[in-house]
Amino acid sequence: MTVITLQHVSKTFTQDVEGAARPVVAVDDVSLKIASGDVLAILGPSGCGKSTLLRLVAGLEKPDHGAVLYDNVDLREIEPFQRGIGMVFQEGALMPHWEAEKSVGFFMWLRKREHEVPARVQRISQITGVGLEKLMERMPRQLSGGERQRVAIARALTRDPRVFLFDEPFSSLDAKLRAQARVELKRLLQEFPVTSIYVTHDQQEAITLSTKIAIMRAGQIEQVGTYHYLYDNPINLFVATFMGVPTINLFEGVVHGHVWQGELFGGYPVRGDLADGTRVIVGLRPEALQLSTDDADFPGRVESVTPYFAEKHLLLEVRNGGDVWRMHAPLTATLKPGDVIRARFEADALHFFDAETGVRIG
Ligand SMILES: Nc1ncnc2c1ncn2[C@@H]1O[C@H](COP(=O)(O)OP(=O)(O)OP(=O)(O)O)[C@@H](O)[C@H]1O
Ligand SMILES: [Mg+2]
Repeated sequence: MTVITLQHVSKTFTQDVEGAARPVVAVDDVSLKIASGDVLAILGPSGCGKSTLLRLVAGLEKPDHGAVLYDNVDLREIEPFQRGIGMVFQEGALMPHWEAEKSVGFFMWLRKREHEVPARVQRISQITGVGLEKLMERMPRQLSGGERQRVAIARALTRDPRVFLFDEPFSSLDAKLRAQARVELKRLLQEFPVTSIYVTHDQQEAITLSTKIAIMRAGQIEQVGTYHYLYDNPINLFVATFMGVPTINLFEGVVHGHVWQGELFGGYPVRGDLADGTRVIVGLRPEALQLSTDDADFPGRVESVTPYFAEKHLLLEVRNGGDVWRMHAPLTATLKPGDVIRARFEADALHFFDAETGVRIG
C-alpha cells in the first residue's frame, strides 16, 4: 500500500476581482503524511482549500511550491497512467452517454482485463449489500443520486487504486441515504484497504470513515489527530469550536493572581506566566454541564428546550446576562423556557484559550 506525503505544498490561484487580478492562496505550505492504509478525513469550512488540496494529491493541479510524493516518489515523476488514483467527486462524474457497466469497466478494458470486472462488481455488491449488478445496464440519468455515487465508487475500486480520493461524495444525498452509504463505504474500505483522503463538511462522516482527521482553515492544516484526540486536546479555539455538535460553550474571563475569573463562575488556577488582566476564554462542552440543585452552582434562565430522544437527553439553551450556553438535561426533566436552573461541571472539563490569539493555554 501507498504512503502519501505532502512537503510544504502551496497553490495560489489568480482571481479576477472587479477587473483586477488578485492572488488567492488556496493551499498554504501544507506538510502531511498519510500512512499506508490510513483514511484521512479533511474537515474545514467552505473555501478553506480542501478540494484544491485533494486535486494536488491527485496531480490534477500542480503545486507552486513543494511536492506530493507517493511512496517517496515525486508525483511529477510518475506517469499519469501509473499513479493508480481512484477518485469520487460530489457528483459521480460518470460518462453521461455510457451505461454504468462501461464506465465501471473502462479502465480494465484499456488494460485488457475487462474479464475481471464482473467478479469485482459482484464482490463489491456482496460487501455492501447493494445489488450493483442490476444497475450496470443503466445510463447515469436512469440512476438515483445514491446509485450514481455507488457506481462511481465501484468504478474507482475496480481499478485497484493505490490511492483513493473522495471529495464530498455523499453531500447531495439526504441524511438517511448518506448514513447508509457511509456504512457501505466503511465496509468496502475495510475489505479493500487503500490509502485514502476523504474531504467532507460532515463530522459524523469523518468519524465513521477515517482513521485520522485533519482540520483545515484558510489553506493550512490546523491540527491532525483522531476525533477523540482533537475533541479533548484542541490546539486552538478554531479546532475546539469545529469539533463537537453542538458547539463547545465559551465563557469570557480575566486572570487575577494566576486564577481565572469569569462573570458566572471562576477561581480556577491558570498557567503561572499569565499576567493579571490577561483575557482568557474558557471552553466547556455542552455534555460536560449538568443540572444542579446546589445554591453554590451558577444559575441561568432557560431560553429553549430541545428533546433528543435517541440520545435520551434534552438540550437546553440557557442565558445569564451576556453568557449563553448549551447543556444537557435528562429527558424526564420538566423544563420550559423561562425556568431558572443551576449548572455544574467538573473542573477538569475546562479548556483555557488566549482571547487574543485563540491558542489553547490549558
Ligand atoms: N481554479 C480556480 N481558480 C481560481 N480560484 C480558485 C480555483 N479553485 C479554487 N479557487 C479558490 O481557492 C480557494 C479554495 O477553494 P477550494 O475549492 O479548494 O475550497 P473548498 O475547501 O473545497 O471549499 P468547499 O467546501 O466550498 O468545496 C477558494 O477561495 C476558491 O475560490
Ligand atoms: Mg470543495
